Amino acid sequence: MDIKVTRNPNPAEKPDPSTLGFGKIFTDHIFMWDWNIDKGWYNPRIVPFENLSIHPGSTVLHYGSEIFEGLKAYRRADGKVQLFRPIENIRRMNNSAERLCLPQIPEEDFMQALTEFVKIEEDWTPSAPGTSLYLRPFMFGNDESLGVHAVHNARFLIIASPVGSYYKEGINPVKIMIEDEDVRAVRGGTGYAKCGGNYAASNRAGERAEQKGYSQVLWLDGVERKYIEEVGAMNVMFKINGVVVTPMLSGSILPGVTRKSIIDVLKSEGYQVEERLLSLDELVAAMADGTLEEAWGCGTAAVVSPIGELCYKDHKYTVNNGEIGELTQHLYDILTGIQWGKEEDKFGWTVEI
Ligand code: PLP
Ligand code: COI
Repeated sequence: MDIKVTRNPNPAEKPDPSTLGFGKIFTDHIFMWDWNIDKGWYNPRIVPFENLSIHPGSTVLHYGSEIFEGLKAYRRADGKVQLFRPIENIRRMNNSAERLCLPQIPEEDFMQALTEFVKIEEDWTPSAPGTSLYLRPFMFGNDESLGVHAVHNARFLIIASPVGSYYKEGINPVKIMIEDEDVRAVRGGTGYAKCGGNYAASNRAGERAEQKGYSQVLWLDGVERKYIEEVGAMNVMFKINGVVVTPMLSGSILPGVTRKSIIDVLKSEGYQVEERLLSLDELVAAMADGTLEEAWGCGTAAVVSPIGELCYKDHKYTVNNGEIGELTQHLYDILTGIQWGKEEDKFGWTVEI
């Protein structure tokens, strides 16, 4: 693939790394690639960062044909930049595309686009501890017509944002509210796809939780509201009686790259990991009898996010005295160690740019 590059004549000042939040500052360029059902993919290009101009009848604005990914480029101590398991994001994006009737992106072309784009934006990868360059590939349906059907025109883009650690004071335990009204996704729906609509549907419960002083909600399954699914926009894991239990990928749960990596790390260290249905009843019983030892969310943005309190129907349960658990901390250290090149990457997960 021949990517045409137009350099930004007015590159922005790099931000002070201590002021980085999450996804507020964008780099100097965008990768863009267009698709038409007859022509296929055409005109791959890297252009100066700019606002998009789309037709008011564009599919995405009416029918939500949008998917995205999230991965990071990390600055190692030797100055090189590396990605963490990008092939997993590439494959998940194609699975999301299949679900939403958006076009497939050839894996090698996607990888080339990512690496060429990151090379151009390499200076934007910060080096301060906990910082990285968050990459946001996304695709949307762009037909200029109001008919409802699989898209005939689409656009794929990659933007990037230098980010700090997700939580200001490092990894502090968060308070989570168990949501038993709204659901995030149902089997047969789009829960396993990373599509914008899933997040739009999550906002109401998230807002309600925030108003009551909670960071996120714990989602239950959409059919019986009986089984644990995810926490906010992260996968969730519990250490119960020495065993790590995480909801199985039932179709309504996003298959997280961090989740998969943690399972691999745990198994390599001899931990017992169970991917299975975990009911709210079982969790409540484990909280009540003290066998719930640790709980954490996991995802690219925060890596690992310890859960210090769970609230269900106004009943509050404290997890591990509201402190970060030993295993939670260990997992954070191992994963971030590999991501920033401080730990040996014995799994072969990192890709140097
Ligand atoms: N679940 C949801 C709903 C998410 O949005 C994310 C974040 O990307 C995850 C889980 C974690 O996935 P990953 O570890 O690939 O970032
Ligand atoms: C994650 O990376 O864990 C996320 O949930 C990303 C979010 C901003 C959609």
